[in-house]
Amino acid sequence: MIKDSLNKIKDKAMEEIKNVSNFDLLEKIQKKYLGRKEGELTKILKNLKNLSLEEKKIIGKLANEVKLRIESEAKKKIQELKIKAEALEENFDITLPGEKIEIGHLHPLTQFTRKITDVFVSMGFEIVDGPEAETEEYNFDLLNIPKEHPSRDLWDTFYIKSGNSPESPELDLGSGDSEQNSKNKLLLRTHTSPVQLRAMEKRKPPVRLIMPGRVFRHEATDAGHETTFHQLEGLVIGENIKMTDLIGTLQYFVKTIFGESAKIRVRPNFFPFTEPSIEVDMTCLICCGKGCGFCGGDGWIETLGAGMVHPAVLKNMKIDPNKYSGFAFGMGVDRLMMLYYGVNDIRLSYSGDLRFIKQF
Ligand code: DAH
Repeated sequence: MIKDSLNKIKDKAMEEIKNVSNFDLLEKIQKKYLGRKEGELTKILKNLKNLSLEEKKIIGKLANEVKLRIESEAKKKIQELKIKAEALEENFDITLPGEKIEIGHLHPLTQFTRKITDVFVSMGFEIVDGPEAETEEYNFDLLNIPKEHPSRDLWDTFYIKSGNSPESPELDLGSGDSEQNSKNKLLLRTHTSPVQLRAMEKRKPPVRLIMPGRVFRHEATDAGHETTFHQLEGLVIGENIKMTDLIGTLQYFVKTIFGESAKIRVRPNFFPFTEPSIEVDMTCLICCGKGCGFCGGDGWIETLGAGMVHPAVLKNMKIDPNKYSGFAFGMGVDRLMMLYYGVNDIRLSYSGDLRFIKQF
């Protein structure tokens, strides 16, 4: 009988504590059951005097268990109410789902540059870096592009005002201070070719080098042109290096990146630093060579310039042209990246627009 009432008290108390939503009510509930004078449990215990010793023991033990159980449930509830109160104070709803943390990734251009450099590294090429603020001497003179030679016009150049340090260049949008010696005259490199010369100051043939990097041209921008873009330069020097080595290397590169169906086509061209010079096209992968708007209808895409390193340039590298020969190439990384990922406007690549970058 008493056992039953004790169990009932326990169940009722537990239920009430579970549903309580503030400290005041909780306190009242605690008092109602455990209060020293009027608590329901206390009342029962007061009636124990009429029971036998044996019964007193059993009921006493049970009553104590019920008391402990109620107390621990109330403690748990206090903890819970405290957390809720704190959250409310900070105006923070703990039931809201957490904010998703966005994880960034490499820019498509960086991803693609790594892909293509990997192909060359697998062929034994070494990756070399060079300065973006370059001297006129390295960007032009040592590459066999003399000062007054019309071929210099191939590269629309951003000159850096004299007296500026390469770390904080200020642009001179004229043709540069003509009085200044080309050794000191700074510009933003118009191509990665000067890195060939810098690399060979610290190396001896045979070498296989690739030189990826950012280049700058003072040009109007459109869907296919930016004033800042990326090139990947290649240089191989050794004994008996031939044009067929160049073509084989490029064919292997294009097929590895773009698949077996990608072919290359070679046309004669002119560059001051190579002789003979070639222009290399690859199959347009948008139309598979049939001709479309992207390739201008002829099924081929201009991919890179290349050639056998000019003897004058070899001499500038302190290399004996009678003993050694070499090939070089320079490709526009942006154009290939666009073809690879199907991007139709180079300006998107430099816009910093996350909607574009997130696609890759
Ligand atoms: N530097 C050239 C340019 O920017 C590209 C180029 C052509 C690089 C032929 C080379 C080369 O190394 O052999 O247009």
